[in-house]
Amino acid sequence: MKTSFFCTMFLFITLLNSGSATLQAGFYRSTCPSAESVVRKVVNKAVARNPGIGAGLIRMHFHDCFVRGCDASVLLDSTPGNPSEKEHPANNPSLRGFEVIDEAKAELESVCPQKVSCADILAFAARDSAYKLGSINYAVPAGRRDGLISLKDEPSQNLPPPFFDAQQLEANFARKGLSKDEMATLSGAHSIGVSHCSSFSNRLYSFNATHTQDPSLDTKFASDLKAKCPNNGGASDPTVSLDYVTPNRLDNKYYSNLKNHRGLLTSDQTLLNSPSTASIVRSNANNGGAWANKFAMAMVKMGSIDVLTGSQGEIRRNCRVVN
Ligand code: HEM
Ligand SMILES: *[C@@H]1O[C@H](CO)[C@@H](O)[C@H](O)[C@H]1NC(C)=O
Repeated sequence: MKTSFFCTMFLFITLLNSGSATLQAGFYRSTCPSAESVVRKVVNKAVARNPGIGAGLIRMHFHDCFVRGCDASVLLDSTPGNPSEKEHPANNPSLRGFEVIDEAKAELESVCPQKVSCADILAFAARDSAYKLGSINYAVPAGRRDGLISLKDEPSQNLPPPFFDAQQLEANFARKGLSKDEMATLSGAHSIGVSHCSSFSNRLYSFNATHTQDPSLDTKFASDLKAKCPNNGGASDPTVSLDYVTPNRLDNKYYSNLKNHRGLLTSDQTLLNSPSTASIVRSNANNGGAWANKFAMAMVKMGSIDVLTGSQGEIRRNCRVVN
C-alpha cells in the first residue's frame, strides 16, 4: 500500500521534472478555445484560393517532424551566420505555405498571446489541409512546444531523397518510429501537389549505364513528362503534378497510378517494384476508405515524433524567430 503510494508519487514527480507529458486532443480548450477554429479558417481561405498551399502545409509538417521532431524548427528563418533548415535544397525553393502559418499565428497572438505553439499550428494546418483536399478528418493531439534550434545541414541527415528505393525508405522511416505500412500509406500524400522536374529528371534522361530512361516508367507517361521537362531546361525548373489523375484531391488514385507505372518519383514507383511494399500499394489502391483511415492515424503518429512538451522549449511569439 505504502510502497505503491510512493511509487506513484515517484512517477508523478519524475514526469513533472522532465517536463514531459503526452500530447492531448483538445489541449487548448481552456487556454485558447478558438485555437483550432482560427487555424482552420485561415487554412480554408488559403487553400480555396490555391489548393497547392494545402499540399505545401502537409509536406511542411512532414519536414518539420522528421528533423528535430515536430518542434517548428522548419519555420525558423536564418539569422546572420546561421542558415536554417529553410535553406536546405529539400526545402528551398519548394516548401510553401509559410505565410499561412504566419497569418494564423498573428491572429492567435491577438486573441491568446503566447499560448498556442507554432508546432501545433502546423499540425492543425496539415490536418485542415487533409480535410479540405481529401475530406480526411482526425483529432490532432496537441501540446507541442517550439524548439530553439534550426540548422541548414540537418534535413539531409533525416529527410529521404526522391531517389531512395523501398528498402532505404523503410529504414529511413523506421528511424523515426514509423512502420513500412505507415511509410507506404503516408506516401499517399503524393496524390496532391507538385514536384520540380529536377527531382525526377534522371528517370527521363540519365537513368543508368544501360538505360537512359527508367524502364519502370510507362513510356507514354515518360514522353508526356519529357515535353513538360525538357532536357537541360536551363535555369528554369518547371513543376509537374505528383498525381496526374486528380492533382488537387487527396485520395488513393496515387496508388492506382503506381499500378499503371505512372508514379512520378523513384521513391513512389519503388513501392510497387519492391515485393515488400507492393501488396500495400495494391490494397491502398483497392480500398480508398481504409487508406484514408490509415493515413489519418499515420499523420497522428508522425505528428508525435520527438515532440517537446511541458516546460521544454517555448511558445514562440513569431514562428520565424525564437523569443
Ligand atoms: C517517402 C519518402 C518521401 C520522399 C522521398 C518525398 C519526396 C518529395 C519530393 C522530392 C517532392 C517534390 C519536391 C519538389 O521538387 O518540388 C515532394 C513533394 C511533396 N511531398 Fe513528399 N516525399 C516523401 C514523403 C512524404 C510524406 C510522408 C508526406 C506527407 C505526409 C509528403 C508530402 C508531400 C507533398 C504534399 C508534396 C507536394 C508539395 C507541394 O506541392 O508543395 N511527402 N516529396
Ligand atoms: C539499370 O536499371 C535496370 C532497371 O532497373 C537494371 O535492371 C540494370 O541492372 C541497371 N543497370 C546498371 C548498370 O545499373
